[in-house]
Amino acid sequence: MNLMHFIEPRDLTIDQYNDVFRLADDIFYHSQSYVDRLRGKILASLFFEPSTRTRISFEAAMLRLGGSVISIGDPKFSSLMKGETIDDTLRMVECYADICAIRHPENFTPHKLAPVLTSMNLINAGDGSNAHPTQTLTDLMTIRHTQGTLEGLKVGFCGDLKYGRTVHSLLSFMKENSDNTFVLISPPEVDLPQEYFKDLDPRRVEVIRDLDEAICDLDVLYMTRIQRERFEDPEEARRLRGSYHLDWSKLQKAKSTMSVLHPLPRVDEIAKEVDRDPRAQYFKQAHFGMIVRMALILYLLENK
Ligand code: NCD
Repeated sequence: MNLMHFIEPRDLTIDQYNDVFRLADDIFYHSQSYVDRLRGKILASLFFEPSTRTRISFEAAMLRLGGSVISIGDPKFSSLMKGETIDDTLRMVECYADICAIRHPENFTPHKLAPVLTSMNLINAGDGSNAHPTQTLTDLMTIRHTQGTLEGLKVGFCGDLKYGRTVHSLLSFMKENSDNTFVLISPPEVDLPQEYFKDLDPRRVEVIRDLDEAICDLDVLYMTRIQRERFEDPEEARRLRGSYHLDWSKLQKAKSTMSVLHPLPRVDEIAKEVDRDPRAQYFKQAHFGMIVRMALILYLLENK
């Protein structure tokens, strides 16, 4: 059996991304044709870290395909508290579910779990500060719909580039296209770690600390919050909070066609007044998140 998992953005080939996007577009325009597609199938939703959007978008995606959802609720009340290893938990979940979305605070947990599975597809819904590949699908679908392409774009990443796993995953996909260029906008304390510069021509990356200066010629501005739960020193996280604040006056300096994305939740990095600007795409992005997760679940289950 060919069991596919989606643990890192590069686990799908470009052709497979295109298949998923084609499916997602069809679901977007003809959602009624999909209401019964996964009747009888079960998604296990295992979240060992707080989540609002990602968890409910996975669950809504499965329900909208006619499937069902099981979850362990609060991990504090699961057998992990009795000393069960997470490997055993997953092997047990595999007896009940066809596909599983897992979020875990430790980097690389899904990577270690995938090899123990024999019949259940595993999707990484975020591992520590490492990766968040389904947010990347969400971001890419939003960029495709708002910019009409994933190529030849100037993308600004603003905020916490050290711990922001959504940034790491989106960058690792977008850098594959040599026509894309990047502007990194962060306080030095949370600069993008060196490992993400690998395979990236330095001429394609600029570091600009000032958002006012950086915003002028961007096609996409990807805002993020300070990931305070990942800081060793909570005082440092408090100090960095508020480093960047996108408001109406900054937006005036940007292209009229720029797309503002944010994986959400926002804290104080985007003023409410920006929500009314047609360039603000973050709520549409949350909607695309559910659609593209429907496409991914369908793709993985139907290609077993
Ligand atoms: C992101 C995450 O969990 O990494 N949120 C999300 O999945 N939409 C970003 C964040 O928490 O800041």
